[in-house]
Amino acid sequence: MEHIGIEPAILYFGTPVVLLGTAGRDGHPNLGPMSSAFWLGWRCVLGMSTSSKTAQNMLATGECTINLPSTAQAGAVDRLARTTGSDPVSPSKLERGYRHVRDKFGVAGLTPVASETVRPPRVAECPVAMEAVVEDSRPLAAELGGNITIFETRVQRVHVHPSITMDGHENRIDPDRWRPLIMSFQKFYGLGDQVHPSRLAEIPEHLYRTPDIARAAGAPRTAAANAN
Ligand SMILES: Cc1cc2nc3c(=O)[nH]c(=O)nc-3n(C[C@H](O)[C@H](O)[C@H](O)COP(=O)(O)O)c2cc1C
Repeated sequence: MEHIGIEPAILYFGTPVVLLGTAGRDGHPNLGPMSSAFWLGWRCVLGMSTSSKTAQNMLATGECTINLPSTAQAGAVDRLARTTGSDPVSPSKLERGYRHVRDKFGVAGLTPVASETVRPPRVAECPVAMEAVVEDSRPLAAELGGNITIFETRVQRVHVHPSITMDGHENRIDPDRWRPLIMSFQKFYGLGDQVHPSRLAEIPEHLYRTPDIARAAGAPRTAAANAN
């Protein structure tokens, strides 16, 4: 089949939705939905609008939680859409119908849980909730104004619901049980069934372990976590 050239305004071809938990310098928690995220070892690379409360909190504190909703949390994610923890709301966000919300967890109907190694809470309802620190950040397309910041984060804890782990393997996720929420061109989808055998999957997962995992085990617990 021949290709045709087109100029789509967005290139959001389908990525998992992430709820980024952050806290301001005053400790007030925020929750920002996003989907520009990918993982390499225990590093997660995130692209976030620099004017978002989420990016500003991450730049100020160097911490976040990376919560992965399943399709069961699509409604909660949608309730967070077009809300911002920033006050006042920027003109470009006002134009797109955003409003300020201080209590993001409350609006979404989600439950904050204290993290062990970072100040921002994680999301109880998300089957996957990670704690991470910012190792690096840089503006994307600086020559266009740098309106998006790319964060390299390092994961320090991976919390999961036991319902998505693989039988007989306490440290593995079963991809047949993990049903991530996918955002494709601003709409929500789930995954279908496995479509083909995978030669890549013949590689034992333990060969991908990096020194970040041992480093994470030694991450100091926060004072709040120690008090619990
Ligand atoms: C499903 C979904 C995916 C989104 N993906 C991104 C993204 O990848 N990067 C981004 O900067 N904003 C993304 N947004 C918009 C942010 O949610 C928006 O910037 C919001 O202001 C963040 O909240 P905050 O200002 O309280 O941090 C997404 C929104 C939704 C609902």
